[in-house]
Amino acid sequence: MSARKPIRKAVFPVAGLGTRFLPATKAIPKELLPIVDRPLIQYAVDEAREAGIEQMIFVTGRGKTAIVEHFDTAFELETTMSERGKSLDILEPTRFPPGDIITVRQQVPLGLGHAIWCARAIVGDEPFAILLPDELMVGKPGCMKQMVEAYEDVGGNLISVLEIPREEVSSYGVIDPGEERGALTEVRGLVEKPPVSEAPSNKIVSGRYILQPEVMRTLEDQEKGAGGEIQLTDAMARMIGGQPFHAVTFAGRRFDCGSKTGFVEATLALALEREDMGEEVRAMARRLLG
Ligand code: G1P
Repeated sequence: MSARKPIRKAVFPVAGLGTRFLPATKAIPKELLPIVDRPLIQYAVDEAREAGIEQMIFVTGRGKTAIVEHFDTAFELETTMSERGKSLDILEPTRFPPGDIITVRQQVPLGLGHAIWCARAIVGDEPFAILLPDELMVGKPGCMKQMVEAYEDVGGNLISVLEIPREEVSSYGVIDPGEERGALTEVRGLVEKPPVSEAPSNKIVSGRYILQPEVMRTLEDQEKGAGGEIQLTDAMARMIGGQPFHAVTFAGRRFDCGSKTGFVEATLALALEREDMGEEVRAMARRLLG
């Protein structure tokens, strides 16, 4: 048994407008766009559940209620399916015990740091996870489970990182890496969206975090940073030194579903791996490539 407080809560910032996917996201939250037949948010929630997390906290905004509907009972649908003798197993991942799906609104889009801070009363005084659903992480075990395992080992704060070509780092949070031990790297510094010439490494923050509740206090007086937004990265950077801070290099694949090409890549990759359609999709891809 580990002496550390277990990670029971996960925060999913889902208030973003999804302008990159317009017009698809005019009336539908981008988190509900499907990769094959599961919405993006479902992959992130499944990943959290696999890691033992029980409470899912969505930081939502206007026009995002369909996300909550997705994790609710669909009375008419389920009754009709049952009457027709259809199995409801396919809906299993969308079911939660009462009280375990929690939402809080971010009224104004002031940045990722501000979105997380909106969940402070629900997170309370325990360590918690954050998952950005745009980043689709595929692995066995999943990314959050790998992080929870690392957390049981070192405690403190953890972020998932991966290496990308140096010229692309300006779109991400970047770490200043210290000592490495297996998949763990000590984090000496963090900078949000640095110019390539000033980036301390090519290891980027890839959208999974385990943080101590003190981050909420730090966010309280966090000033605006890159893009004029209140950045989570900046608040985390201020916590380094006071608490252990490590990066976990995820053993698995990552798809950036915040970009259209990343979204298409994820769709193709997951379709190719599916037992029920992989072969057909492979043949189709060959045909299309001529
Ligand atoms: C956010 C974080 C950034 C991180 C990225 C991962 O940026 O601020 O540190 O690297 O997610 O996708 P955003 O994509 O919201 O600009």
